[in-house]
Amino acid sequence: LLEDRPTNPAAGDDNRPIGYGRIQRKEDPRFVRGKGHYVDDIVLPGMLHGAILRAPVAHARLVSIDTSEALAHPGVHAVITGTDLQALGLAWAPTLSMDVQAVLVTDKVRFQGQEVAFVVADDRYAARDALELIRVDYDLLPPVIDARTALDPGAPVIRDDLEGRTDNHIFDWEAGDATETDAVFAAADVVVSQEIIYPRVHPAPMETCGAVADFDPIDGRLTLYETTQAPHAHRTLFAMVAGIPEHKIRVVSPDIGGGFGNKVGIYPGYILAVVGSIVTGKPVKWVEDRSENLMSTSFARDYIMQGSIAATKDGTILGLRTNVLADHGAFNATAQPTKYPAGFFHIFTGSYDLKAAHCTVTGVYTNKAPGGVAYACSFRVTEAVYLVERMVDILAAKLGMDPAELRLKNFIKPEQFPYANKTGWEYDSGNYEPTMRLSMQMAGYDELRQEQKEKRERGELMGIGISFFTETVGAGPRKHMDILGLGMNDGAELRVHPTGKAVVRISVQSQGQGHETTFAQIVAEELGIPPEDIDVVHGDTDQTPFGLGTYGSRSTPVSGGAVALVARKVREKARFIAAAMLETRPEDLEWEKGRWFVKGDPSIGKTVAEIAMGAHGTVALPEGIDGNLDAEVTYDPPNLTFPFGAYICVVDIDPGTGHVKVRRFIAVDDCGTRINPMIIEGQVHGGLTDGVGMALMEIIEFDTEGNCLGGSFMDYLIPTAMEVPDWETGFTVTPSPHHPIGAKGIGESATVGSPPAIVNAVVDALAPFGITHMDMPCTPARVWEAMQGRPRPP
Ligand code: CDP
Repeated sequence: LLEDRPTNPAAGDDNRPIGYGRIQRKEDPRFVRGKGHYVDDIVLPGMLHGAILRAPVAHARLVSIDTSEALAHPGVHAVITGTDLQALGLAWAPTLSMDVQAVLVTDKVRFQGQEVAFVVADDRYAARDALELIRVDYDLLPPVIDARTALDPGAPVIRDDLEGRTDNHIFDWEAGDATETDAVFAAADVVVSQEIIYPRVHPAPMETCGAVADFDPIDGRLTLYETTQAPHAHRTLFAMVAGIPEHKIRVVSPDIGGGFGNKVGIYPGYILAVVGSIVTGKPVKWVEDRSENLMSTSFARDYIMQGSIAATKDGTILGLRTNVLADHGAFNATAQPTKYPAGFFHIFTGSYDLKAAHCTVTGVYTNKAPGGVAYACSFRVTEAVYLVERMVDILAAKLGMDPAELRLKNFIKPEQFPYANKTGWEYDSGNYEPTMRLSMQMAGYDELRQEQKEKRERGELMGIGISFFTETVGAGPRKHMDILGLGMNDGAELRVHPTGKAVVRISVQSQGQGHETTFAQIVAEELGIPPEDIDVVHGDTDQTPFGLGTYGSRSTPVSGGAVALVARKVREKARFIAAAMLETRPEDLEWEKGRWFVKGDPSIGKTVAEIAMGAHGTVALPEGIDGNLDAEVTYDPPNLTFPFGAYICVVDIDPGTGHVKVRRFIAVDDCGTRINPMIIEGQVHGGLTDGVGMALMEIIEFDTEGNCLGGSFMDYLIPTAMEVPDWETGFTVTPSPHHPIGAKGIGESATVGSPPAIVNAVVDALAPFGITHMDMPCTPARVWEAMQGRPRPP
């Protein structure tokens, strides 16, 4: 295990800045002073404001729409309807899953909260007031709310806009080997099955979505300030959809108040702001409110999973099987690589060495908001980890085995890496047992079990839950993945100015993860110049190289690799320039701590700053070397990275109210080489808090008519500091063998890994009642209800 090392610039630590402790975040001085610059802070001369009229019902034919009164309202400049967009060919837009989504309703409302009309006015108030003056006639249709009924014969067909469509089926997908899995199950001593639901939840970033569109009719240039996690991909899609040439579009994504997957897709509001600007000839701002965000932007999860696990009676896990019904809402707008309609769900084999595995996933339309984004997760890894970690606990209960012991017995062994799992992944590196043992040691696992035993004797409800997860992050290798045909590679450009200060331009966009700090650290590590001498530019397509954006913990695995490689390219170029300056041959030079020196005579050398000045100066340069110290790369990662971790949660349940208190939470993460331990800790703290939310309180539910019951923070509960414990974090380091600096992603590990640990703890606490499973969220009402009618524990 590595210790976090304290930063000591005086001792020259700046020359090895990766992993050196608690380098403060460069972005924090502006954030803590309230000087962040978000989309809603942007004010352009003559700017107008847009507001969206949303459907009050889930399924209805649009009979008529009368905008005359709204248009006459003081301050209103335009009221745009689906018919107007139809005339422009913009009524429908492609989704990230090759489906189409209505920008404004033309024929039929397909979910409550769907966009019906767009008002542009002098200010936000006038725009909102005018919404109430639009008269719409709807002809109500029966909605499909429960995904289980979506494929029933005679179910209302939601997508009758799609030619030839006679049902609500979207796709069937499978991975693994069904026959092999059947054989393994048939020969097993023990098979247990369980329906496991990962409910619909929402990323709920603090900043909602919004845009300021500024179309200049003179030179046909569109500047679009947007809350987006993927500015370059958005620019390309806008060019394709709106027909504006790509070089005439600039997407700027300023500071982002949290994305978590919510800001990956292109929402109708963004397109409407652009149309509003084209129609009025003025900049148009649209920023949604909280309810709009929760009701209409991308949800996450909504998987109904039938799981089965097979084992020998001594606890060797043999196989895993699952059939999933995936609720995709009214439009298939799920964000994931094209080839994988269920994202990376097929990592559901987890951290275990199985003989066989098979999964099938069926996607269906329902009258709910579209999306299916990877909320702090690499494309359905969260659902996969939840399934396997619940199933392992259910098996442990069946076998009467300790869940830690069962996991330790079945881990993939270190010598098996790189490990080819049964559904097509190649895990790059792993050493699971030390991570698991460290978490148990930090938790005092044996003592906790003893305490639980004593408490159970007194009728107290204490639970200990474990989860051991393996993720697959860093999408991804272009031979395997793309989104709408765009390969998932990232670019990086590095310029070292004549005085040795540098700027690195990256294609990913931070939403609070601290990229301005960590990407500078990578350059600093590679070039031996201090991180504070390196500026990181991101979030502006005019200023940064093309790349696919930030989600699925891909920034470090992909852009982090790009930045390390571009710095190495500069370092190599510096060798040639230094050789010219020293009148020697490049091969006679050796690299150390930010300088090239003559082999055998370290006193003769040139620092990066000296070389930068030389490059821009009058030194005669060798052929093929330009007069600068700049470079650019596009990085195509050879594989994804596979971070992992061991989480232990301790809960106490109040038998009178069913209230679950998370008393302790121990998280040991392994993300390979650690760039900034403080930032990693922050990422883990945030993700664990997400986990408490999903496990105990968050759910977007609908009534039978399709009314969204989670449309405000009064109904959609998210955790605060009151509901979370002091997190106890630890780490191990198993570098990725293929990543240039050995780093794996960390951004989403805790969101992925924590819900099963918490639910496993709740179920463990309730084990004396004979309870073996409970679906999230484990609210007091659900927990209390589960205990009723069952014999009280002794
Ligand atoms: O794509 P996203 O930035 O959300 O996720 P990530 O690549 O896992 O990185 C999250 C933050 O943690 C970034 O600031 C990374 O540079 C940092 N990180 C780190 O310091 N060391 C790692 N091994 C992985 C991430």
